[in-house]
Amino acid sequence: MGVKVVGGGSRIKTIEEAIHVLNGLLEKQERFKRSKSNDIHAEENMAEQVGNLTFGIIKPDAVRGGKVGSILQRITDGGFKIRGMKLIHLSKREAEGFYAVHRERPFFGELTKFMSGGPCVVLALEKAGAVKAWRDLMGATDPAKADEGTIRKEFAASIGENAVHGSDSEENAQIEIAYFFSQLELV
Ligand code: CMP
Repeated sequence: MGVKVVGGGSRIKTIEEAIHVLNGLLEKQERFKRSKSNDIHAEENMAEQVGNLTFGIIKPDAVRGGKVGSILQRITDGGFKIRGMKLIHLSKREAEGFYAVHRERPFFGELTKFMSGGPCVVLALEKAGAVKAWRDLMGATDPAKADEGTIRKEFAASIGENAVHGSDSEENAQIEIAYFFSQLELV
């Protein structure tokens, strides 16, 4: 059984609650930025760090298939520094909160059932240009379209069970890292 620290440690029961928590986190980040606005170096450091961080998940299919070690090896071989990592088992509601942006899509039920169907590993990853670098290493969402040498080409079975997740923008990377990690959990 994994550790559950989602949405600041409280259990989220509805998508609306998850969105509320995410909005709170965004406001907190804005306040932090404003409080540092007189400190040029702090602003520069924060901008630099944000651009170099992304969020990843080793999904339940890959954990179940014993692929965590191989995928972590690919991540570190790819030049990423692991800033945060934990094994968790999402509830259905927590998965619905994380993927709330897809709630109108026809695959939402299937996706959240799969993501809450077993443990996964959540990761905060650091590298220059981290968002693109991690997406390049993962490969296309549909493994049938993924390039040779990518994680999804090697480890994923289908578009629905595609081994790994990665943030699609720097803004979402911040939101997704904050959804799963407290500041203390990032080294
Ligand atoms: P991920 O990068 O985690 O972001 C959203 C997920 O939705 C995506 O990976 C896929 O696993 C899943 N997904 C996207 N399109 C489909 C689809 N057509 N059918 C099932 N799942 C999908």
